[in-house]
Amino acid sequence: MDSFRDTKALKYLRPSQVGPMAAGLSAFGASELPAVEEPSTIWIPDDKLGYKLANVVERSDAGVVVKAKNKENVFEEMDIPSDETQEVNPSAFELCEDMASLTHLNEASVLHNLRQRFLLDLIHTFSGLFCVTINPWRWLPIYTDQVVQLYTGAQEHTPPHVFAIAQTAYSGILKGGGDQSILITGESGAGKTENTKKIIQYFTVVAGGGMSRMCKSATFNSALSSSSLEEQIAEMNPLLESFGNAKTTQNDNSSRFGKFIRIKFGSDGIVVGTEIESYLLEKSRVVSQNVSERSFHIFYQLLSEGFPASLKQALNLRMPASSYRFINRGGPDSDQVDSINDAVDAQHTDRALNTLGFSPDEKLYLYQMVAACLLMGQLKFTERTGFDQTFIDGTAEANDVCALIGLKTNRFVDGLTEPTMKVGDQLIRKSQNLEKTLFSVSAVAKSVYERTFKWIVTKCNSSLRAKGAGKQSLAGRLAHFLT
Ligand SMILES: Nc1ncnc2c1ncn2[C@@H]1O[C@H](COP(=O)(O)OP(=O)(O)OP(=O)(O)O)[C@@H](O)[C@H]1O
Ligand SMILES: [Mg+2]
Repeated sequence: MDSFRDTKALKYLRPSQVGPMAAGLSAFGASELPAVEEPSTIWIPDDKLGYKLANVVERSDAGVVVKAKNKENVFEEMDIPSDETQEVNPSAFELCEDMASLTHLNEASVLHNLRQRFLLDLIHTFSGLFCVTINPWRWLPIYTDQVVQLYTGAQEHTPPHVFAIAQTAYSGILKGGGDQSILITGESGAGKTENTKKIIQYFTVVAGGGMSRMCKSATFNSALSSSSLEEQIAEMNPLLESFGNAKTTQNDNSSRFGKFIRIKFGSDGIVVGTEIESYLLEKSRVVSQNVSERSFHIFYQLLSEGFPASLKQALNLRMPASSYRFINRGGPDSDQVDSINDAVDAQHTDRALNTLGFSPDEKLYLYQMVAACLLMGQLKFTERTGFDQTFIDGTAEANDVCALIGLKTNRFVDGLTEPTMKVGDQLIRKSQNLEKTLFSVSAVAKSVYERTFKWIVTKCNSSLRAKGAGKQSLAGRLAHFLT
């Protein structure tokens, strides 16, 4: 553990201000702080901060008379009902690393402790088995391989960190504790996806000794067969983010689907495979977005400079992103996001597809499906007034779509404007009005995109599935993530 003192990361993990009660041990360079009781202060509600400290003047059964600053910033005496006050912890618990050890475990103390730690760039805090992580929105040097090594094999008294959670799960597996689960939860933008990736990074370093085995799946073409399982696992998340994440008002890279990741370990504690299940892709985003939001990243990547002009030509994509109706609902310029470089990300997506064993044909098929969804938004129809009848207004756009999905244009258009229905034993075609036709177009685009997404997940799973030796020993050796 002395190695903690040697790393630059110590400042962000356990700086010298953290007292012995907080750190759990004084062995980490913390000075001995006396445990001072603070009976004369109490937490009272505050509109801005949630809670603020007040000096107790008098306590009674009904309430507490306190002296605290009022809205004009002047000290005054106030009567606060007892149930609105919360006890203050002894000062030895300042910057406490594990809030389960607080003498008074109340909301005010938890918020105070998290805030004080965050102000010192200590973004992680334990609360018993949980690790609370506050998004700093800037990368601290606490995810390096050196920091991974600090947590590897460590049993206790390590500073709070998402790696400590990963290590606990890993130790549980090694000690025969059965399947281990890690639940990552929080509001949008809290950092679930990023922390999931950090945990996967941890496993690929500490349990990746044998992962450099080359994948020889029969589905790989020869140029791609050299990706290691380690690389494939690392690329799985960025790939799914391209197709399943989008810019929202809260998060420029918001996951619009839930996922359950299963990492499988062999009897020697080495990762041998990974499996992912996806849930509830927000497919409505394929055809519509709120103001200032975007559709899934892949649409803008496909239209960016990151892909060659020849591919865009082959996909019948001839306009900038802002011209496509299905992906420009966020408003003018909503396709441009400061924190996103679609061209760079496009190249990353293409590389990740290679790494995960998608053949050139499969990649083209994938891009064709995405482009077809986009182009369905360009279809134009007219309605015959007074009748439930819709007609295609020019077939050029429909031809573009059908060339990509391999359908005859007239059959595709008829299916949208005059769908076939089953009445009893008979199939009949019934024309429909413009509103219903447009609804059908949206439904087809959403469905094609959702199926394409599921196919990507299935394909990733077949590349990442545990293969060969050690399969038997997988039972009871799993780490699960639901994020
Ligand atoms: N530990 C961290 N250090 C630095 N920046 C972070 C960290 N965690 C998250 N971020 C930043 O916050 C952004 C949002 O995080 P993330 O996408 O993980 O949120 P999320 O909880 O998955 O949100 P959503 O529910 O919308 O998918 C990231 O793109 C990154 O810029
Ligand atoms: Mg996310």
